[in-house]
Amino acid sequence: MKLWGGRFSKATSGLVDDFHSSISFDQRLYEQDIQGSIAHAVMLGEQGIIPEEDARAIVQGLKEILEDARAGKIEWHVDAEDIHMNVETLLTQRIGEAGKRLHTGRSRNDQVALDMHMYAREACQDTVHMLEDLVGALLDTAEKHLDTIMPGYTHMQKAQPITLAHHLMAYVQMFLRDREHFLQAGKAADIMPLGSGALAATTYPLNRERVASLLGFSRITLNSLDGVSDRDYLLDYMYAASLTMMHLSRFCEELILWNTNEFHFVEMDDAFSTGSSIMPQKKNPDVAELIRGKTGRVYGSLMGLLTTMKGLPLAYNKDMQEDKEGFFDCRDTVIKSLTVFTAMFRTLTFRTGDMLRGADGGFTNATDLADYLVRKGVAFRDAHRIVGELVAHCVKENKAILDLTLPELQAFHPSFDADVYDAISMQTCVQKRNIPGGPAPEAVKAAISQARAMLDSRA
Ligand code: ARG
Repeated sequence: MKLWGGRFSKATSGLVDDFHSSISFDQRLYEQDIQGSIAHAVMLGEQGIIPEEDARAIVQGLKEILEDARAGKIEWHVDAEDIHMNVETLLTQRIGEAGKRLHTGRSRNDQVALDMHMYAREACQDTVHMLEDLVGALLDTAEKHLDTIMPGYTHMQKAQPITLAHHLMAYVQMFLRDREHFLQAGKAADIMPLGSGALAATTYPLNRERVASLLGFSRITLNSLDGVSDRDYLLDYMYAASLTMMHLSRFCEELILWNTNEFHFVEMDDAFSTGSSIMPQKKNPDVAELIRGKTGRVYGSLMGLLTTMKGLPLAYNKDMQEDKEGFFDCRDTVIKSLTVFTAMFRTLTFRTGDMLRGADGGFTNATDLADYLVRKGVAFRDAHRIVGELVAHCVKENKAILDLTLPELQAFHPSFDADVYDAISMQTCVQKRNIPGGPAPEAVKAAISQARAMLDSRA
């Protein structure tokens, strides 16, 4: 018989059991569910709501179930519907009458909310750690490439020279923002809903603060309807995860491009590439492609839950059981993607010679040449036109600006002097951009120490 079977005169249809049971996926909450129940039972005993010896028996029984569950020794049952009723049924089978007192002053609605708050809180911490690993790897590599010149792009056209360190530091900023988002989501999850009951709290004198402190929560929820029907903290995580996946996906897209024969800026390690079943020469960047691809399912989980929640009247509705599979998948996907990406990134070989050649060809110093004329007294608009004409000439002659002789340059404007070659070398172009946030090695060094300081400070 079902735990709630008292008012029913027929068994549930097998179709319904199969359809509404959540044990196939919420069994992953056993740890949270049992720890939550232990805290609840301890408090019930302390408050004299149930006899102390029953509380002790319940705690002991739950601890044993937890050990067995961790050892994979427990078989969860569909007819017990979900993790909450599976644990309670098992407890009563094992310890008898006392087990029936565990659910005093509690509903599955606040119980599942508690489990998900605990689970999400941990997911946030885990994801923050993964992001910190990734940022650490990026900073280590950036430090080695402060002087590695590469072309920077706009419209996928070569624009101005930057350094590899500067490019990597752009991603560091993104992932540091992601980390802040997950820390924020962690705060939203860090609130204890037990005591909300089914929707209207309870008549028992529960000590909610005590349960919160036993479970390491900083706050308790302040409205019982909201306590059981809030899923915002899951959405916070999923939004943060969507941003992280978007950032990873953009990075992967660049690495795939840089790994092509045409760019030849990086070489992916054999251990992180795969071959083709027909073309013997192939070495494909599948890992990066898969991360880019998995971004879609993470966005999907966010959209799915937003849509599930949008029409729900207060308070709990069974629709909300649909939060779990999407959330679990989202968490698993972002954590796996971060893990694999960081490992792949650490094994990349950067082809610095090709990067420099890429920066050299393509007139990335044209802006600096115009600025050179400005320093010689030419108005910027005129300098822009003169350099434009000069670039058109070079394109026709298939030359770089630095290939032109001084008399050739002077044919475009008499102010060109011998010092022009130094003024528009790739190194000068980068070094001159020495303001906070710029690509000059000194500026990037400062950005790296700021990033390290941020990693060390836990908000
Ligand atoms: N398995 C349910 C869920 O995940 C637990 C809460 C069920 N509550 C209820 N009144 N049916 O949402």
